[in-house]
Amino acid sequence: MLVNDSYNIIETADGSFSLYSKEFDQLMHAREGAYTEALSKHVFPSKILCSTDKVINILDIGFGTGYNPLALIMQTRDKKFEEINIYSLEFSKESYSSISKIKFDDDKDIYFDKIKEGFLNNKSSFENVNIHFMFGDARESIKNLSERKIYFDAVFHDPFSPAKNSELWTVDLFKVIGSIIKDKTFLTTYSSALQIRRGMIEAGFFIGDLVCDNLPKTGTIASKTPFDGSFDKKKIDEIFKEILSVPYRDENLSLCRDEISENRIEERRQLKIQNKSSS
Ligand SMILES: C[S@@+](CC[C@H](N)C(=O)[O-])C[C@H]1O[C@@H](n2cnc3c(N)ncnc32)[C@H](O)[C@@H]1O
Repeated sequence: MLVNDSYNIIETADGSFSLYSKEFDQLMHAREGAYTEALSKHVFPSKILCSTDKVINILDIGFGTGYNPLALIMQTRDKKFEEINIYSLEFSKESYSSISKIKFDDDKDIYFDKIKEGFLNNKSSFENVNIHFMFGDARESIKNLSERKIYFDAVFHDPFSPAKNSELWTVDLFKVIGSIIKDKTFLTTYSSALQIRRGMIEAGFFIGDLVCDNLPKTGTIASKTPFDGSFDKKKIDEIFKEILSVPYRDENLSLCRDEISENRIEERRQLKIQNKSSS
């Protein structure tokens, strides 16, 4: 384990390294495999590799180590796309000193080095790839993308867990994301928590289980149109019946994460009182 001020570098079971954030008290990836997770929870289930478009736009929420863009780039080396535009959202360049120490010792390093260099310089353009780094609160960056009317073909939604990073899991943020994606676009995420599933449904998404063979936990995939495997009404009613499914809310995309979490606890408390008095 290597240590720097904000992150510890931890090896995961597939041999790739992840960062443990001291601020969030959380590892950025599954211990079963950081790079495996990028492929199996984002790139493959997003179905972006099946797209027949020549130009694709990808929204990467929570750049972290940059493995989601890296995994996408590695899977599209056949150059089936003429142009891949990736918008990577991250607070700051604070993790640079840690990710600059990470290597794969295989052909991924050629592209990983380009991504890391771009992270430092705000933009990276090579071959058919453009990575646009947007620093600051991702909620502001998403509002900015919505004003610029950029429409996305895949969303890799990869913040820290809902309990620790509630501002990126709210109904209201999902609504804005819904407004900047195409009809058939998939949003992929590793979380299957009831509150984020209901949050997506309230924001107008159809959702389903994201299952992968090589990792134990399921996640969620979401799209603006129904898809093979999207939940039926019965399954959705079951989610809404659970008090735990009360979602995070942040109407103006401006509350701090503690307020968002406390408001949710209060909404659940009120609901419990209502349920008691009506039974
Ligand atoms: C789980 S990690 C991302 C892992 C990453 N996708 C990877 O492959 O390494 C979550 C990232 O989201 C960033 N993040 C969390 N909340 C944010 C916010 N409100 N705005 C911008 N970035 C945020 C964190 O700094 C962290 O790098």
